Amino acid sequence: MAQPRHFLTLDDINADEFRSIIARATELKRLQREGISHARYPGKVLAMIFAKASTRTRVSFEAGMTQLGGSAMFLSAADTQLGRGEPVEDTARVISSMVDAVMIRTFEHSTVERFARMSSVPVINGLTNDFHPCQLLADMQTWFEHRGDIAGRRVCWLGDGNNMCQSYINAARLLDFELVIACPEGYEPDADLVAKNAERVRIEHDADAAVEGVDLLVTDVWASMGQEEEQKIREAAMAPFQLSRGLLARAAKDALYLHCLPAHRGEEITAELMDAPDSVIWDEAENRLHAQKALLEFLLG
Ligand code: CP
Ligand code: NVA
Repeated sequence: MAQPRHFLTLDDINADEFRSIIARATELKRLQREGISHARYPGKVLAMIFAKASTRTRVSFEAGMTQLGGSAMFLSAADTQLGRGEPVEDTARVISSMVDAVMIRTFEHSTVERFARMSSVPVINGLTNDFHPCQLLADMQTWFEHRGDIAGRRVCWLGDGNNMCQSYINAARLLDFELVIACPEGYEPDADLVAKNAERVRIEHDADAAVEGVDLLVTDVWASMGQEEEQKIREAAMAPFQLSRGLLARAAKDALYLHCLPAHRGEEITAELMDAPDSVIWDEAENRLHAQKALLEFLLG
């Protein structure tokens, strides 16, 4: 049996595929808004396994699959036999024998890799501790819709060198933009990943210097899911990296800013920027729907 195509990190697609998924996402957005049916997959089922909370990922995949003519099934990891210790590999063989694609949100990145190895259908990473590639499809769609191609542009990641940050590193390599990661010492992304992408990525510990002249600023919560007990210590370390009007003023004149949400207003981003009339954060959230429908089409064929 041929191995199915998976989407565990952005490394699973090439630059042309990335750009064509974005273009198709924009087209699907138009079809959806104009009420033109694009239900190509009647009877197809997406299983969604969640070991962590979600609003956007769950709603966008479920609504998206329905709009594509199929259906999505929500599985709380704890309520399946996974929660009682059934091996990931056995679960993968069984679930993939019954559905057409599987989305997983979990802790260890190795869990989605193990699942994918035994899955007979495409597996999508809906967020792990290390990567959040679906969010990058939506983020890049948002940039492309407002500003055109991102090649050669300068992007600043602010705050924690987390799963989102690491997916930005992958995106920088694929789409050929420069990425400055502004984070406190001790909160850098994976050193090997940075070293492998040294041509396009650099770390900076001074937020003011990092944002100078950049075209796009991006931030995320300071304590990710699973790090709740570190909230206070992280707040203290990351306070100088708050995305604020003052920081934005140092960026390029027409700079955009993004946040994958959920946001902690007054921590990593000011409430004023969240609610600013020119904020594209809400487009970014909506684009999860369109981008993942394009991804589903790409994987389901
Ligand atoms: N941005 C994102 O993945 O949101 P959820 O956690 O709500 O799915
Ligand atoms: N870095 C955050 C992203 C949430 C969508 C987390 O992992 O909790």
